[in-house]
Amino acid sequence: MKVLFFSAQSYDREYFTRANQAAPLELRFLEAPLNVDNTALIKDEQVICVFVNDHVTAEIISILKEKNVKLIALRSAGFNNVDLAAAATAGIKVVRVPAYSPHAVAEHALTLLTALNRKIYKSYNRVRDNNFTLSGLEGIDLFGKTVGIIGTGNIGTVFCKIMLGIGCKVIAHDVYINEELVLAGVAYKSLDEVLSESDIVSLHCPLMPATKHLINKNSIVSMKKGVILINTSRGGLIDTVAVIDALKNGHIGALGIDVYEQEEHLFFQNFSDTIVQDDVLSRLTTFPNVLITAHQGFFTKEALMQISNITLNNIRSYVDDGILLNEVK
Ligand code: NAI
Repeated sequence: MKVLFFSAQSYDREYFTRANQAAPLELRFLEAPLNVDNTALIKDEQVICVFVNDHVTAEIISILKEKNVKLIALRSAGFNNVDLAAAATAGIKVVRVPAYSPHAVAEHALTLLTALNRKIYKSYNRVRDNNFTLSGLEGIDLFGKTVGIIGTGNIGTVFCKIMLGIGCKVIAHDVYINEELVLAGVAYKSLDEVLSESDIVSLHCPLMPATKHLINKNSIVSMKKGVILINTSRGGLIDTVAVIDALKNGHIGALGIDVYEQEEHLFFQNFSDTIVQDDVLSRLTTFPNVLITAHQGFFTKEALMQISNITLNNIRSYVDDGILLNEVK
């Protein structure tokens, strides 16, 4: 069976080629993202493999149907980039990697939080410049602070445990209660309560119509002044313009993001020789209390190996036995 990869980076080739050795499928890797024009690059592949910023719209799905594509294999956990209703109507199945290494993303959320709090990016540069002063670098003890976690699925659960380990008071909001976390000491509360009581808020819920711009002008007002906001989930959970206003007036004390609402035009690409046209992102990068990484939360050796193995297993299972593992409906 032939599989065509869109948005493939060098590490995708490396890890998927390694994972493919056991029971080889015919893999073809394209650096190009999936868009209407690039559907012309599909030859006779019945499976396409896409990543988070490949937007599989209804228009693209109708072209995939014409091209006899049977399966869209997401090599990601999030699936907000696929028009599932259109895929169902076209009879094209969608599978994903529901969990690979929740530790990778949860540990990255911690990295953003601690780097921001202790201003590691500033001290790194100061020391390299032989400036060994400390003024402006003071942080807070995380111990004893209240951390609010929105979404306690795979990643949120690991993050809750990490923060409990540091000695934080952990409160959470989810549509489901994880009893294991309750026993560990996590208190579930309403979204408003979590936002208004937390010194630190970390987002770990999926992007859906119900969660789009969960952090907006109104919800920011209910948050504590000086709150540290961390988002490693999806950019659309945050109304970035409202967050910029709150950073300007000091209501948000610091912001750490691994995802950005308009990231599909930028992330995973190198624009260092050009002028980036995104004024919102450019404004964000001017704040001394904002730390942005380009969707690297998943990017550990363990996670990449898991993603490759599970994605190929999803494909083989469908191709060989007609069984849909990890289907998204
Ligand atoms: P998951 O599906 O295990 O957990 C999501 C949790 O959010 C579930 O417990 C669900 O009940 C909850 N939830 C749903 N609607 C909610 C709402 N309205 N309010 C509060 N909670 C709600 O997903 P997982 O694996 O923990 O991933 C979380 C998100 O992290 C993904 O949706 C994805 O967007 C993002 N992600 C980011 C990565 C990165 O590299 N930065 C890598 C992998 C995932």
